[in-house]
Amino acid sequence: MKKRMRALVAARAREPVAPPPTDGLWPLAQPFRVGSLTIPNRVVQAPLAGIGNRVFRAQSRRHGAGLVVSEMVAAHGIRHGNKRTRDMLQLGTAESPIAIQVFGGDPDVMAEAARAVEDAGADMVDINMGCPVPKIMKTGAGAALLADPAKGEAVVRAMADAVRIPVSVKMRRGLRPGDMDPAEVARRFEGAGAALITIHPRAAAEEYAGTADHSISARVVDAVDVPVVISGDITDAADALDALGMTGAAAVMIGRAALGNPWALGAIARGEQDPRPTAGEVIGELQHFARDIADLMGDERACHYLRKFHSWYLAGRGLPEHELQALMEDATLDEALARLGAMRAAQSATAGDAAA
Ligand SMILES: Cc1cc2nc3c(=O)[nH]c(=O)nc-3n(C[C@H](O)[C@H](O)[C@H](O)COP(=O)(O)O)c2cc1C
Repeated sequence: MKKRMRALVAARAREPVAPPPTDGLWPLAQPFRVGSLTIPNRVVQAPLAGIGNRVFRAQSRRHGAGLVVSEMVAAHGIRHGNKRTRDMLQLGTAESPIAIQVFGGDPDVMAEAARAVEDAGADMVDINMGCPVPKIMKTGAGAALLADPAKGEAVVRAMADAVRIPVSVKMRRGLRPGDMDPAEVARRFEGAGAALITIHPRAAAEEYAGTADHSISARVVDAVDVPVVISGDITDAADALDALGMTGAAAVMIGRAALGNPWALGAIARGEQDPRPTAGEVIGELQHFARDIADLMGDERACHYLRKFHSWYLAGRGLPEHELQALMEDATLDEALARLGAMRAAQSATAGDAAA
């Protein structure tokens, strides 16, 4: 399958990215399997801490991601019944297939978390082995598990033994560039029961600096038989096709490129190079998102959460700068929603003028 996919992608990668294919052969539109689970296409929404709640994930699915992954959830918080952590396990109706990502360094606690994720109805449980934040790594979790692959293997094995749903690992290339062979470590995790590996080929110490070197991802793909998802700096359909062609990976993961631009997910899944929603459509999407976020977390937390989204959605869309600035400073959700309503009305009036 891996070879057939690589040949298909290589053949298409030589051609310019075309309009949506009518032959059904756009490689990223093809389903793939993880154990008994079928993912309907090859675009995965990245786990994003503090961002990837169930509203964000449902939106990503609606826009065309084949699989969505939750923000990282603390395994210890699940064990201790922390309310906010437990709430993070509540799934919406429109997000399957979904993986819940958990972090922790203790095999027993992680196995318990995996069972809670399965009981919550998730389709897959993902292990965070990439988080570079010192507070997390100090506890032996996140990328710290890469420094002790035997412990990482024990975590994977304990979780795979505990649940029927597939267990996946999201890893970086190491703690520092060149300190380990990620292909070898990925193979060990596969041996311990991982049904899918995601590789973000930066080291933890690099955080997000430089560019992701997907020749490292290609070595991971060659080392394992399970599907590999590649993460890092993939922003559009052309990038995605190139990265799949170069690595033979099963799928691409999209993080920052879809912030404020969920249209990117569907465009990559369908092979459309440059999705251009109108400013009115963008504001409409943001209004819809803001209302759903308010239902999830209440007006006050929603107002705070949404601040960064305003600029992600609206900067560079030709909207008046002072309106964007005012939106960021609105103290309540009602004020922000009223301003968005007025901005949308002004856009419709302008579009109407243009059409008249
Ligand atoms: C704000 C932010 C939060 C992130 N949170 C997580 C996380 O909770 N778990 C994880 O495995 N990776 C996390 N990542 C890493 C992303 O999933 C992804 O691997 C990385 O951003 C590279 O992909 P991109 O270039 O498409 O953004 C985060 C990245 C960002 C920018």
